[in-house]
Amino acid sequence: MVCSRLAVLVTAVSFFSTLLHAASTAAASGFVASDGSVSFALNIPNDQVDDTSLYFVLTGPSTSSWISVGMGNNEMKDTLMFIMYADSTATNVTVSPRLSYDNTEPSYTSNVTYTVGPGSGISNGTMTATVLCHNCRSWKGGSIDPTNTAANFLFASGPRESLKSNSVTANLQRHSSYGTFTMDLTRAVGAGQLPSIVTADTAGTIQDTDKSDNDFLPALHGALTIIAFVGLMPIGLLILRIMNSVKWHALNQSLSAAVALIGVFVGIYCGTLYNRSRSFNSAHQLFGLVITVGMVAQFILGFVHHRIYKKTLAPTKLAPFHIWLGRLVIPAGVVNIFLGFPLAQNSKYNWALLGFVLAIIIIISLVLVWKWKQIKRQRKMRLAVEGNLNSDSGSEMRPWSAMGEPETNVPLDHINGPSAYHVPR
Ligand SMILES: *[C@@H]1O[C@H](CO)[C@@H](O)[C@H](O)[C@H]1NC(C)=O
Ligand SMILES: *[C@@H]1O[C@H](CO)[C@@H](O)[C@H](O)[C@H]1NC(C)=O
Ligand SMILES: *[C@@H]1O[C@H](CO)[C@@H](O)[C@H](O)[C@H]1NC(C)=O
Repeated sequence: MVCSRLAVLVTAVSFFSTLLHAASTAAASGFVASDGSVSFALNIPNDQVDDTSLYFVLTGPSTSSWISVGMGNNEMKDTLMFIMYADSTATNVTVSPRLSYDNTEPSYTSNVTYTVGPGSGISNGTMTATVLCHNCRSWKGGSIDPTNTAANFLFASGPRESLKSNSVTANLQRHSSYGTFTMDLTRAVGAGQLPSIVTADTAGTIQDTDKSDNDFLPALHGALTIIAFVGLMPIGLLILRIMNSVKWHALNQSLSAAVALIGVFVGIYCGTLYNRSRSFNSAHQLFGLVITVGMVAQFILGFVHHRIYKKTLAPTKLAPFHIWLGRLVIPAGVVNIFLGFPLAQNSKYNWALLGFVLAIIIIISLVLVWKWKQIKRQRKMRLAVEGNLNSDSGSEMRPWSAMGEPETNVPLDHINGPSAYHVPR
């Protein structure tokens, strides 16, 4: 115990002393991603007292939200990753060791002890972390073998978003670029020292893959739910109020429910990918489930109401529930989208969403006012002509019957008119 503490102290002291030398002569293997997103140099001390440590320097453009290198594997599973991002002052960096158990956001591990040293910081558009890790050569699922001439590594960087945090468990967005490389570790072995920043691959380093990436699934989830709740569902309301068409209302709302449901399933899957949503207890997720239940209930209510109505030709007891659930579910869905963007760490899109929602509200209000005026005008006309036009008054509001739709022999004014959905008195 005392011995290992002493070893850590000794290495820590030499760590800082090496930084006094401007250009390090340390043995090192270096890697620079072909897209310039990550540069990494590694030194493996060969001292007898220190056979668990690693020295490394990680740098990359400070426009990336985070920059990372992963050791021991060519896939995320069981890889030990070091992720750096700006600290809360944006002048220095936070370094977070993490393990990944799948192709999902890696989780912080407290098993790794490490020191972030001088030379770390953010300047001139570059993030730099100088790290001495005290027990980094083996972990659950992987290891660093100094005799391996083609050891597997990963690199990745986050999108151009601002991430400033002192927390080692900060939530991350999905990588915007990532890849794999192998390094000849025998060339990294030497006196324990912090290596210099590398500007090109050193001998024995090969980049295998390089992919750009985007956060497609959360975007799809957002797009589908916005189309359903902000677009299609309000249109379904207009179809009922303006066209007076129960049939098209039902078709449209079935479509919007289907789109929303697909969006929900995509969202549930997205939730499993990130630490912040994996336990499924955020307000957006819980509220979303409640809304989904409400939406399905709304669909069933509308369907059953219509079936009963067709048989009895009288307003059913379900009508007021259908009307009021609709008035709750649509705004609740819209509110929940506002809660979703912060969870996806994309709060800025809430402004665009706000603009879109306001535009839709204005359009719907204008259309409803126009409709209301039209009804008033028609009522006046009807009063003037006294009864003559009564039976025909709704026909121009039913374009589908002009389009050759089979007319039913039930009085359409009562099925199609909003009266069918009015609270029975
Ligand atoms: C930390 O180490 C312990 C003991 O070796 C191990 O059981 C545990 O799984 C490790 N935790 C992580 C996050 O690696
Ligand atoms: C960043 O933090 C490290 C570790 O605390 C420190 O040694 C270094 O001087 C800091 N860099 C700047 C630019 O403040
Ligand atoms: C800042 O970065 C540019 C380009 O990356 C480089 O040419 C320049 O030397 C750097 N300046 C300092 C002071 O590091």
